[in-house]
Amino acid sequence: MRLLSNVAPLRCRVRLARLYSTGTSGVVNVMGKDYTRDHLTNITPTIISKLSRKLYNQPGHPLSTLRALIESHFADYAHLSSVSPIVSPAQNFDGLSFPADHPGRSPTDSYYINKHTMLRTHTSAHEVEVFARGTARYLLTADVYRRDEIDASHYPVFHQMEGARVVSADSTGMAELTADNARLRAELARSPIVIDDIPHFDARTNPHQPEHDPAHAVALAENLKLSLNGLLLKLFGGRANLGGDAEGGEPLRVRWVETTFPWTAPSFEAEVLFRGEWLEILGCGVVRQKTLENANVPDKLAWAFGLGLERIAMILYSIPDIRLFWSDDPRFAAQFAQGEISAFRPYSRYPACYKDVSFWRPDVAGGTRAMHENDFCDLVRDVAGDLVEDVTLTDEFEHPTTKRQSVCYRINYRSMDRSLSNDETNALHAKVVSELKNQFGAEIR
Ligand code: PHE
Repeated sequence: MRLLSNVAPLRCRVRLARLYSTGTSGVVNVMGKDYTRDHLTNITPTIISKLSRKLYNQPGHPLSTLRALIESHFADYAHLSSVSPIVSPAQNFDGLSFPADHPGRSPTDSYYINKHTMLRTHTSAHEVEVFARGTARYLLTADVYRRDEIDASHYPVFHQMEGARVVSADSTGMAELTADNARLRAELARSPIVIDDIPHFDARTNPHQPEHDPAHAVALAENLKLSLNGLLLKLFGGRANLGGDAEGGEPLRVRWVETTFPWTAPSFEAEVLFRGEWLEILGCGVVRQKTLENANVPDKLAWAFGLGLERIAMILYSIPDIRLFWSDDPRFAAQFAQGEISAFRPYSRYPACYKDVSFWRPDVAGGTRAMHENDFCDLVRDVAGDLVEDVTLTDEFEHPTTKRQSVCYRINYRSMDRSLSNDETNALHAKVVSELKNQFGAEIR
């Protein structure tokens, strides 16, 4: 949901800048190190507390099983993890040719420690450094961070796996890809999979890079798609009730579509048909030479892909709420064994309780901009953590003369593990309201 774009009048900004208590001065400690705050600092205590959890290493955890399954498909790749989530905007964006005005750079969308440091928003943030080390094939598993709304499928921390393959930009590299493509093509031809493919590049809508020989671009894109078709078959094929071939002999259906990423061309998305719906599973493409030049390996060619582990795990395990991945409740953890994909059995659904709050939208970040929905959601997460199921904007209007904006949010409180008492919900909501006033100087209506 999009907010009105104009910021509050200056008069208001000056007054609120004084009230804004988190401030733009001082330091913030992240993973044992002090960082100087500035106007971009927006990392919250809730996020800081998630930085070392490494769910993908917890034996039996669905994310760990999924990671191992994907690693087994790319068995001869270097399997990397435990790379610090603290990166520079240069790693996350510039090295990957993100334009200066790309929305992902906005502090409303990404967590900044300060203007020099941020939390990676995707595993691609490490492409340049891994390419620079000369690693020819790798899979990198990591936690990534994005500011977002609160609902059953969004959480500000989630996990991605990135895979990439590098070959030399000469006949040796081509021979390697051509042989591999023939082998993979033959393997897939014998497998229960139907692939709805598109051209490996399209001069008009999904062009190859001007630096590339079209034959090289085709060999790379084909190798990328063949490798991923095999992965999708391993993940989704033949699983009972997944529309796969378990009983009915139905093959898995995969469909390729064009897309764009700043650092790949051509670029693709893969979708699988699951219970009658096409689901987007991963993004990928042929890595731009600029990225390889940034890594000081201009004489190489590469492809890369990235996928979100929670999204796939929610589908494969029928997990209905993304908060469950973070649950310490043994009723969650005890259901799963490492290496096995089984359907989640919901243990109970506890009552929900919603509460509304209406306020004049204040300015934030030292008075530099109007409060964004993601600012409000981070405040709610800091107060109530995983006891919030979703937050929705239920009303919004602009005062005709003062131009001040009023918003009303409905917060739905519900625990995954137990019943919340009325008193507890009331106390949480009262804290949200008082933090709105204290931190942002918001005027409650
Ligand atoms: N990083 C991309 C994302 O988060 C996925 C991607 C990885 C796309 C590698 C292309 C190449 O959506």
